[in-house]
Amino acid sequence: METVYLDNAATSFPKPPQVPRQMARYLEEVGATVNRSVYGAAQAAGMVELRLRQRLCRLFHFGPVTHAVLTPGNTWGLNLMLAGFLRPGDHCVVSSMEHNAVMRPLQALAKQGVTFTRVQCDALGRLEPKDVERALRPDTRLVVLAHGSNVSGTVQDAAAVGEICRRYGVPFCLDGAQTAGHLPVDFTSLGLSALSVPGHKGLLGPSGIGALLLDPAFAQRLTPTVSGGTGSASDSEEIPAYMPDRFEPGTPNVPGIYGLEAALAFLEETGVETVAAHDRALTARFLDGVRSIPTVSVIGPDAVEGRVGVVSLDFPGRDNAEVAEALEREYGILTRCGLHCAPSAHKTLGTFPRGTVRFSWGWFSTENDIDRALEAVRAV
Ligand code: ALA
Repeated sequence: METVYLDNAATSFPKPPQVPRQMARYLEEVGATVNRSVYGAAQAAGMVELRLRQRLCRLFHFGPVTHAVLTPGNTWGLNLMLAGFLRPGDHCVVSSMEHNAVMRPLQALAKQGVTFTRVQCDALGRLEPKDVERALRPDTRLVVLAHGSNVSGTVQDAAAVGEICRRYGVPFCLDGAQTAGHLPVDFTSLGLSALSVPGHKGLLGPSGIGALLLDPAFAQRLTPTVSGGTGSASDSEEIPAYMPDRFEPGTPNVPGIYGLEAALAFLEETGVETVAAHDRALTARFLDGVRSIPTVSVIGPDAVEGRVGVVSLDFPGRDNAEVAEALEREYGILTRCGLHCAPSAHKTLGTFPRGTVRFSWGWFSTENDIDRALEAVRAV
């Protein structure tokens, strides 16, 4: 039985063919690391790294290129930003739809005297921007928001939150885990101070690499949480003050750099608007289909508006984990069940601790994939 991969919210699959091709080419033919040596192969690898930063800047309407920091992934980027910025006595505002990539570092910082307010979202996972404004205090130093939910696909009104943050002079960090590559995300018009993204989800690259884009004034207020050799200012035992070296110690994931650069080239050629339209069409097809299945309920928005292609279903009266296992075993449908590392989001949506069965598609998913999933949901 041919399987249908509907777990793109966890990681996108398949990748554009040039992604593994470029990674293999790097490992087989280039080999050199970046920012350390001056021979030809090392220079060539450095150029790929620069092209990757330039592509990130174009994709997210961001500059300067030096502030497109490469990270080992979104969780690392968010940790770097949270722990590098918040100090004991600082207050931070988050939504109740955050993933543990934000909540766990924040809970760790709370033990050191950082406080936070979790703004309650409604039962569809939607944040009321005015509630963010109400949560701001004189000691609020940061607002962090998951742009799109990895549980319900709910997309927040980041522009409205950005406008509030700008008015109050509070830095605004967006977690683009489920929207980068799926929706246009404009760093400048959203008024962001930081945008953290994974390379392996909607950006279609490999895992183990992501990016943290930092507004220059905000970057100056961050302290590096990891230090080490950068291949620059080697006479000093202090990490350099300049970007991006300040936040990129150690040999980077160069195969990942080649893979993500190739993925972004593919995405640029395809166009994020085109990807978004495809996402919307598949979401509409899936939602239309499940509406006629009385044994399941959709968690989160029941319409295409205000969401991405991530849909959680509940099978009342059943064990959702058993359903997910049967979907794979009997129908070849690959989903992710449980709490999706987001207990706060599940509490908001009323699905904690029961969890849901999550279906998520991407650029390479087809109408036939959706139809096979619907048949399986009907029959399981
Ligand atoms: N956060 C990722 C997911 O939702 C890993 O599956």
